[in-house]
Amino acid sequence: MARVAARYSESQSFDRRLYRQDIAGSIAHATALAKAGIISDEEKKRIETGLREIEREISSGKFLWDESLEDVHMNIENVLTKKIGEAGAKLHTARSRNDQIALDMRLYVKDEIKRTCLRIKKLQASLVGLAQEHVGVVVPGYTHLQRAQPVFLAHYFLSHVESLARDTERLSDCMERTDVLPLGSGALSGSTIVLDRESIARDLKFSRVSQNSLDAVSDRDFVCEFVFCLAMIGMHLSRLSEDLIIWGTSEFGFVEFSEEFSTGSSLMPQKKNPDMAELTRGKTGRLYGNLMSILTTLKALPSSYNRDLQEDKEALFDSVDTVNAALEVFSGMLPKLKINREKMKEASGDPNLLATDLAEYLVKKGMAFRKAHETVGKIVAGTMGKGMQLGAIPLTKLKKFSSLFDADVAKVFDVRRSLSARRATGAPSPDNVRAQIKHWRIQLRG
Ligand code: ARG
Repeated sequence: MARVAARYSESQSFDRRLYRQDIAGSIAHATALAKAGIISDEEKKRIETGLREIEREISSGKFLWDESLEDVHMNIENVLTKKIGEAGAKLHTARSRNDQIALDMRLYVKDEIKRTCLRIKKLQASLVGLAQEHVGVVVPGYTHLQRAQPVFLAHYFLSHVESLARDTERLSDCMERTDVLPLGSGALSGSTIVLDRESIARDLKFSRVSQNSLDAVSDRDFVCEFVFCLAMIGMHLSRLSEDLIIWGTSEFGFVEFSEEFSTGSSLMPQKKNPDMAELTRGKTGRLYGNLMSILTTLKALPSSYNRDLQEDKEALFDSVDTVNAALEVFSGMLPKLKINREKMKEASGDPNLLATDLAEYLVKKGMAFRKAHETVGKIVAGTMGKGMQLGAIPLTKLKKFSSLFDADVAKVFDVRRSLSARRATGAPSPDNVRAQIKHWRIQLRG
């Protein structure tokens, strides 16, 4: 092969990351070969010992990767054969690199799904910790980025615990389809040497065995799904990032990033920039790109294995690294976030946040909601620009808008009373918020 072609097509520089999976797969394969009588038990033992040795060499950085050998599979097999001779040369019986790489990828994705779930859990614990720490703090809730209605800050943090919980659900769903053994599919049509695939599956902890060899060597749905799950996590983190960035501005002043997780400006000495949040928002673009890249690689591929499939790896690895790093940064950054309770209190004291409560007051007195909405609309319009606050309008004036207003209207403008009334499941009453914190603490335990 021309050097330029070899350099173009090699994958060892990046697929070496799969060495643990490759070695585990080869040991299980050797076990099946021995059971089928293709190699002796003695040969199987030598293969296993050799592979374990290679695994240690790679993890300690002592392994010499041969750049002239195309991929991780050939590098490992080559060194194995040098170590143990003839037995090493028997390992690839009834196996192709096509089902081998499909296996490595599935083992890798399974490992990474578990790791991602653990990191999500850690981040959820940080969010629940913040919710607990600031349990009584009220903030304006926003829609259209306009002050809307009051909520507990804890309710806000718990909203992100929910979206991350969906990510975990999605990952475990993805696990179902990843958890299928492709080994034994050969290049595309199995082999005349028949191995006990069910037993290999048990050895490698797969729940199922693939049922069609053509499909099994070309199926990368699980990679797409996993990369989609990772893109979704990125999207969730980018939304959290965006809120924190806005909340950290001088205009809001709700939060302050710790020194450890922010940067100063090289020019303006007063600045503290939320770079971690901005980068997370930005890296989400890469995560979407990786998903597009894999989907496009798979588009219109002919049946079974095609070398295009090698292009699934770098995008996958990049998404794994990006999301792992982002989850780690957020888990560390959130507990150190300074919450400016004073600013939040001030902002949530805005009586306009309770305009809907005022309309609901009229509804409780018998007025139709549309009418009540219109009435309060008129009252708000009347106070606007006149330096008057919704909560400070004298009863006599209110009565001009509706005779249903009474002395008890004053109670409407108590934020905590308003929140206490929001008792429906999922709404932010203090009892609900406390119950949710408790619920998540139990869920995230262990
Ligand atoms: N590097 C290849 C991949 O990632 C491994 C399988 C190669 N198979 C082959 N017939 N060249 O998909």
